[in-house]
Amino acid sequence: MIELNNIEMIYDDNGTKIEALKLKELKVNDGEKVAFIGSSGCGKTTLFNLISGMLLPTKGKVTVEDVGLTSLTEGERDLFRANHIGYIFQDFNLFPDFTVLQNVVLPMSFSKRYEKGEMEKEALAMLKRVGLDGKKDQKVKTLSGGERQRVAIARSIVNKPNIILADEPTGNLDYKNGAKIMELITQIAKEEKATLLVITHNNSQLDMFDRSINIEELNEAIK
Ligand SMILES: Nc1ncnc2c1ncn2[C@@H]1O[C@H](COP(=O)(O)OP(=O)(O)OP(=O)(O)O)[C@@H](O)[C@H]1O
Ligand SMILES: [Mg+2]
Repeated sequence: MIELNNIEMIYDDNGTKIEALKLKELKVNDGEKVAFIGSSGCGKTTLFNLISGMLLPTKGKVTVEDVGLTSLTEGERDLFRANHIGYIFQDFNLFPDFTVLQNVVLPMSFSKRYEKGEMEKEALAMLKRVGLDGKKDQKVKTLSGGERQRVAIARSIVNKPNIILADEPTGNLDYKNGAKIMELITQIAKEEKATLLVITHNNSQLDMFDRSINIEELNEAIK
């Protein structure tokens, strides 16, 4: 279960306060597939950064799988994320000068799930899953956008997270490849019995989800 209560997120941009998100309550049950919608700037990425513990709210409580993220230290939140959450970032956050394989192995070394000897084998299995095993030794900066997207997916699921957060995973892709990527993500989530949260602007994808939440309507900071 993911639960947010009485959240307020106010960014401090060199002394200028930016109230980005204010919401009373948000709950997502285990195994649910939820789409997050709403116009640009309404707070969707901010919400995902709070759920993943990348960001602490100015006020309020974030609880993920019975763990109060808002009472953990940064190091504890990093470890929690490595073991429980797979995050496909809006801008991928890959290391361009590392190879495909190195990018996927990296988060494995943060979680304590795998022995050193197992990591590469698991990472390769994941790359095969997204159809990129043939490119494992290529540097990420030499890949196409869709290929980078698939590396980001492989990296986010390699630790077998219970929760997958995908921030506009098809935002940079054409319709056909976008549909393929969404299918891949939902299939992996189903196999792993993971809770899936996806930010999307693509209305044609909404029927793949159990429900959709409009952050623009929920966010009291922009009313
Ligand atoms: N680090 C930051 N410092 C200051 N303001 C920020 C920061 N990050 C986001 N914001 C502001 O918070 C608001 C919400 O941003 P957020 O990135 O969550 O929007 P979004 O819904 O993901 O938008 P998009 O669909 O364009 O990705 C915006 O007004 C943005 O300018
Ligand atoms: Mg965003």
